[in-house]
Amino acid sequence: MYFEYDVHSVKLGGVVLINMERSIHPVRTLTKEEQLKLEKDTTLLSEFKRNKLEKEAQRNWDLFYKRNSTNFYKDRHWTTREFEELRNESSDGSKKILLEVGCGVGNFLFPLLEENPHLFIYACDFSPRAVQFVKDNARYEPSRIEVFQCDLTTDLLSSRIVDCNVNIVTMIFVLSAIHPDKMVQVVRNIHTVLKPGGCVLFRDYGLFDHAMLRFAPGHKLGDNFYVRQDGTRAYYFSQEILGQLFTEAGFEIVSNEYISRETVNKKQGLSVPRVFVQAKFVKRIVCHKNVGEMMNDSNFNEASTSPS
Ligand SMILES: C[S@@+](CC[C@H](N)C(=O)[O-])C[C@H]1O[C@@H](n2cnc3c(N)ncnc32)[C@H](O)[C@@H]1O
Repeated sequence: MYFEYDVHSVKLGGVVLINMERSIHPVRTLTKEEQLKLEKDTTLLSEFKRNKLEKEAQRNWDLFYKRNSTNFYKDRHWTTREFEELRNESSDGSKKILLEVGCGVGNFLFPLLEENPHLFIYACDFSPRAVQFVKDNARYEPSRIEVFQCDLTTDLLSSRIVDCNVNIVTMIFVLSAIHPDKMVQVVRNIHTVLKPGGCVLFRDYGLFDHAMLRFAPGHKLGDNFYVRQDGTRAYYFSQEILGQLFTEAGFEIVSNEYISRETVNKKQGLSVPRVFVQAKFVKRIVCHKNVGEMMNDSNFNEASTSPS
């Protein structure tokens, strides 16, 4: 049995998105208890607390890295299997430029640097500690990586990557950490530094992921948006909302699908159903908004030009 869910007038990025009436989730079947739990959890945190979490987003992620240093996420060795664009297939030795946004401590970028010698990687994160952990990593090669601090919701990427010549942007579990009202401006920010025809490779939490269903009452911030115990936040994407977000920011959808995985905890003998969304978007050849317009946009600052 599939759980049918109603989403009326979902608000994201300042615009009201589609009404998805009784859509059917293609990969996750909820039990009756899970359905009831989601239906009953309607009380949002107070506006004051929600605003505070938004103001302190950077601080909360920086404290996350203070507590966990480089030990929380495992190196991501699956990326070239899932995204063929990342494979080492350059026959003429030409280099590709990749930008990893919200890079954390480098669990995505270091394995990739080893697997594909034809990449130059720009990487950014708004946590100063995460940026420093990347620089301190023994695998950090300044000739192949440039890492900098940047808040994707307020700092213009094009003031840091002035040639706007990026072939591939990777967004691995980062957009879910950003307030839904700011997601479109973040995707537009990325759009400005990509070459026309360049792509975004995306993987993040999907609707009805096990982690979403585990939140106790008192953690809800909005539709499919929750706060964890440590103040970091997580949004759980439906395919529909993700597709609309990127289309609105000037991208074409190449693929956009749910991925279903079982995570097994051998010690506890537990297996939990994870749901992710994985997608590829391509920048259309004609830009809908140029850098000049972005600079006039009061949401954005010029990113600091001094390396951090
Ligand atoms: C779940 S971690 C993912 C890290 C990394 N992409 C990986 O796959 O291991 C999310 C990251 O996004 C960063 N982040 C969240 N909001 C951000 C923002 N507005 N600008 C830049 N980075 C942000 C956090 O500091 C954190 O490092």
